Amino acid sequence: MIIAIDGPAAAGKGTLARQLAEHLNLAYLDTGLIYRAVGKKVIGAGGMPEDAKTSEAAAHALSSDDLAADGLRTDEVAAAASKVSAVPGVRAALLDFQRDFAACPPEGKTGAVLDGRDIGTVVCPGADHKLFVTASIDVRAQRRVKELQDRGLEAIYARVFEDMEERDARDQQRTSSPLEPARDAHTLDTTDLNVEQVFKAALEFIRSSKA
Ligand code: C5P
Repeated sequence: MIIAIDGPAAAGKGTLARQLAEHLNLAYLDTGLIYRAVGKKVIGAGGMPEDAKTSEAAAHALSSDDLAADGLRTDEVAAAASKVSAVPGVRAALLDFQRDFAACPPEGKTGAVLDGRDIGTVVCPGADHKLFVTASIDVRAQRRVKELQDRGLEAIYARVFEDMEERDARDQQRTSSPLEPARDAHTLDTTDLNVEQVFKAALEFIRSSKA
């Protein structure tokens, strides 16, 4: 079973994907982390994430150590990730890894949950279940502020809101695999839902749409 979950930042995709993977005994891949690792590799070496050559080279040289690096969850790295992810060659370089994970999930699992921006549209267009998880930008920015503060990091709402707006625009407007719901995706608006309610709604959708 393949479950594809797409949506903008801080909409609740990651939490939902982890819960579904655990509940259904599936493998989980956070594809945003891969783009973050490429972004961090580029800025860590003093490069420009918008530069196609530099970013493509970083994507091709990506190692498991890069994916386990500290500091991948900062907003600075998120911004770099959204710049490298607009480079078609970067997306192409990372595609096989994501598809292989879905086709042959690790640890003998019989399926996988992948979350990102283009899972239902490009990485796994044949996924059994597709969810597009979204929420108002105000609520998403509030969630991100709380998440950063819980991790002991400084977070100012206005700044987080602005960064998120910029990142949403870049992710939606890029020509290569833009952020958009797959035509057959079920949209889940989490603006007024708590974590438990989101999980319940997603599980109901999956059960009701069982092939
Ligand atoms: O999901 P997360 O916020 O960690 O993703 C960071 C950035 O990586 C996104 O803003 C997006 O630009 C990029 N990304 C992508 N395609 C994916 C996952 C993430 O372009 N499948």
